[in-house]
Amino acid sequence: MGEDRPGAGVAVSLRALKPPPDRLYGRGRGHRLRARQLRLLELTLPRLAFTPDQAWRPSELWLEVGFGSGEHTLAQIAAHPEVGLIACEVFDNGICALLSRLVPDGGEATAPLPDNLRLWTDDARTLLRLLPDRCLGRLFLLFPDPWPKSRHAKRRFVHPALLPLLARVLKPGAEWRVASDDPTYQAWVDEVMAGQVLFGVPPPVIGRPSDWPRTRYEAKALREGREPRYWTFSRR
Ligand SMILES: C[S@@+](CC[C@H](N)C(=O)[O-])C[C@H]1O[C@@H](n2cnc3c(N)ncnc32)[C@H](O)[C@@H]1O
Repeated sequence: MGEDRPGAGVAVSLRALKPPPDRLYGRGRGHRLRARQLRLLELTLPRLAFTPDQAWRPSELWLEVGFGSGEHTLAQIAAHPEVGLIACEVFDNGICALLSRLVPDGGEATAPLPDNLRLWTDDARTLLRLLPDRCLGRLFLLFPDPWPKSRHAKRRFVHPALLPLLARVLKPGAEWRVASDDPTYQAWVDEVMAGQVLFGVPPPVIGRPSDWPRTRYEAKALREGREPRYWTFSRR
């Protein structure tokens, strides 16, 4: 049994853990993009792109890391029109899936867009470094890539080296919501969060809390018989 099998070395891994690489992700692409997807990226995305210097200043700001196809993002902006949400995703097909739900075919350049949503399509950690102190009231990290092999632990978003950065941008009392269906990642989150003082760490719950809109990955996990856990950490 090698050190790299999924789940190996969770208990000893924090001390030996390598720091995360500077840049983990750029824009990712799956299969070739269709004409509609190219129009969405070319014409719609720039109208929603977040830039740190823009005048958009909602009174309450939330951030979602890795929105996938955007089900949770769209449900949150509909449920909380008073909140500004910056949603991050690097995968073109996911970005197009969200955009295609916002604008009809042919309306890519002109259809009205929600004013309480902005998209960031590079590594979320780059954005975190650009945001001012204590600007976020809530952070969502739903079903992050688990990177189950211990030699890939440095790529996990829940990482001791990233916690001070997350703590800097969150307001005191802000919520950090994390969900995972992967047993290695679940144990990892518990271990990383037990070893820090920046966040309050109530135990996770097993059933999805009612105001956490369902995501595609969660639905897949449940179909395949895995048991997601849901944590709500609070910035001290
Ligand atoms: C397993 S998927 C989950 C997607 C969605 N949250 C859901 O539950 O359906 C994780 C997503 O996070 C994105 N992602 C991973 N690391 C990221 C990063 N550093 N910045 C932005 N997005 C990231 C990936 O591209 C992927 O789409």
